[in-house]
Amino acid sequence: MKIIVTGGAGFIGGNFVHHMVNKYPEYQIINLDLLTYAGNLETLKPVENKPNYKFVHGDIADRDFVFKLFEEEKPDIVVNFAAESHVDRSITDPEAFVRTNVMGTTTLLDACRTYGIKRYHQVSTDEVYGDLPLDRPDLFFTETTPLHTSSPYSSSKAGADLFVLAYHRTYGLPVTVSRCSNNYGPYHFPEKLIPLMISRALADEELPVYGDGANVRDWLHVSDHCEAIDLILHKGRVGEIYNIGGHNERTNLEVVKTILKALDKPESLIRYVKDRPGHDRRYAIDPTKIETELGWKPKYNFDTGIRQTIDWYLNNQDWWKHILSGEYSQYFEKMYGDRL
Ligand code: NAD
Ligand code: TYD
Repeated sequence: MKIIVTGGAGFIGGNFVHHMVNKYPEYQIINLDLLTYAGNLETLKPVENKPNYKFVHGDIADRDFVFKLFEEEKPDIVVNFAAESHVDRSITDPEAFVRTNVMGTTTLLDACRTYGIKRYHQVSTDEVYGDLPLDRPDLFFTETTPLHTSSPYSSSKAGADLFVLAYHRTYGLPVTVSRCSNNYGPYHFPEKLIPLMISRALADEELPVYGDGANVRDWLHVSDHCEAIDLILHKGRVGEIYNIGGHNERTNLEVVKTILKALDKPESLIRYVKDRPGHDRRYAIDPTKIETELGWKPKYNFDTGIRQTIDWYLNNQDWWKHILSGEYSQYFEKMYGDRL
């Protein structure tokens, strides 16, 4: 089985590459990544010398490059994690999100149609459903909730998600789609809430909380997300959408206070700042379908997962300090400079 994992130098893709390379030594895992600011080959250090792992540098929206790669590799499966993923960046530069998230996805789909594929899996997001009101805790996103996006990021992800479903219906491409809630865990780029707050609290820097901090996210440990995608690839039904989430809703303020407490830092570090425009209030997943159909159950709850994650950031300070200093971007040159 040969699997192309796109965006494997990012947070979730990197964790997924670790998971697959270690669990399935008989599979070939090809990590295709453009190494944007969010791509970090240092994340792949634990697997970079394994015989069933290979890194390919390239852009999923570059049609000539993608078709040539498919011609050479003839993959059985494609799992598409590659994306521009940060909502705040999408508000300042929407175009990059259209290019990678929408056009990159359709380029991969066209290559799959041309060369044939056993499965194309799209890593989508619960943000395609928009948000839920804070005063209706009884409401959850199911797979049939209408798409109703808020940000340029979620709109580009919804566009990609719909193209994937259209390629199934129109061309019969064997696809699956997963829509997961917010992830946290090792190798998370420190512009996102949890790693940002951990790294800043450790440096006794102010912690910027948007608006009143009452927005709710449904947090899932990244390894539970990886397990879910693995299950969908092996047991999921073609043409289906699977929501992934573990019922771990927390307000942003609760998350930040949990981190401060675990690090023994004062709440006076919290600084309320201007709200994000169009800020989604609440995300909450109903995971009944993946639980009952595929038997998926998360291993972590938020309390155990956040403790493990904080310990990881304490024990792997080089990883995130290299990012903050910009040193991580030289790793590609160092590792691959004489191989190109
Ligand atoms: P990330 O920003 O950490 O990683 C994205 C990776 O994609 C990077 O390695 C980057 O270099 C690569 N990339 C970007 N543009 C590319 C291109 N044109 N060609 C090839 N590679 C390119 O993102 P993440 O948080 O790991 O998210 C991965 C996927 O999961 C995304 O599709 C995202 O929408 C989805 N998702 C994320 C979350 C979350 O909480 N982070 C939740 C649900 C779904
Ligand atoms: P983020 O990690 O950017 O994920 P998303 O917006 O995709 O859910 O943000 C999670 C929540 O934390 C979101 O409600 C915005 C909020 N937030 C802050 O309050 N301060 C920050 O500095 C950041 C990055 C996010």
